[in-house]
Amino acid sequence: MTGNRPAIPLRFSGVGSALPQKVLTNDDLSAMMDTSDEWITERTGIKERRIGGSTSGLAIEAGQAAITRSGFDPASIEHVVLATTTPDKRMPGTSATVARELGLTCGTFDLQAACAGWVYGLIVANGFLAQGMERILLIGAETMDRMVDFTDRSTAILFGNGAGAVVLESSDQSNGELLSWDLGTDGDLLHLLYTDYESSLHMDGREVFRKAVSVVVDSSQKTLDKAGVRAEEVKLVVPHQANIRILESAWKRLGFSIDQTAVVLDRTGNTSAASIPIALDDAVQKDRVDDGDLVLFVGFGAGMTWGSALVRWHGN
Ligand code: COA
Repeated sequence: MTGNRPAIPLRFSGVGSALPQKVLTNDDLSAMMDTSDEWITERTGIKERRIGGSTSGLAIEAGQAAITRSGFDPASIEHVVLATTTPDKRMPGTSATVARELGLTCGTFDLQAACAGWVYGLIVANGFLAQGMERILLIGAETMDRMVDFTDRSTAILFGNGAGAVVLESSDQSNGELLSWDLGTDGDLLHLLYTDYESSLHMDGREVFRKAVSVVVDSSQKTLDKAGVRAEEVKLVVPHQANIRILESAWKRLGFSIDQTAVVLDRTGNTSAASIPIALDDAVQKDRVDDGDLVLFVGFGAGMTWGSALVRWHGN
């Protein structure tokens, strides 16, 4: 489904991220399994990733950073949405732990849409703002090292841990807005990428790659068309950070350049639902986005799910 233009202001009042301390380089992995830095770099663009920590711990650190940068009293947060595929427990939602540690008693829930989860969260949060809420904390957080089998070279090289968070605000002082969006699922592709209870991540890498390129192109194009925006008008694209070659293939068809793109996957690997807000934080800290700029988010992952959203940026 592709969204219509909502007439509510949207401001990214604070952005933050957190990575665990422990770095796992391609050379470290080469000492554990039959692979090499050269192979991983060439096929994926990934050089290192972080491991360790807990999903709630990383989410709290990223959430706290976003709140601090927003300058708001944490008590003014009216809802927490946590996108994750690696919750601390089967229940309750990890968002409850995050809320407790941030001193919040507002509504919270976890959102599971795999690597597209944060984009889904952005649309959901925008809906809450349209319903009259003023401030929402949207987090993506993952501990993917709990899901992968570190003897399987075809998957272990790809993933890492981390969290990213934004404080979203609807205020009359904001010139920002969500211009258009697109969310979709093809449940027939579920077998390509899944993790059962008590088993590690299963993936058909080649097919995931092929489908990922196709859904990134289709979804991004739909979202751009809906807003009547051309690729060259977008200041920054913040994509899910899975593989640089997926982006290069999709960008060729969409007309984007890598220079227009927030890329952190070389340092983080694929952090699933956390990857877009981590890349956004990196871009914001490097002053790559100004008020009034067009920013496109695009995510994709298991399900297969995908989502894209175009915003007119208004930051802190
Ligand atoms: N190191 C060295 N060799 C490896 C390897 C590794 N880590 N992983 C696989 N290989 C080998 C394979 O065994 C195969 O060997 P063979 O030709 O002797 O059978 C060869 O490399 C090619 O494997 P293939 O799977 O075709 O490689 P690829 O170019 O498709 O790259 C991925 C594999 C996983 C990097 C790539 O398919 C990919 O990134 N897919 C998308 C995954 C993804 O993004 N998932 C998350 C989505 S949210």
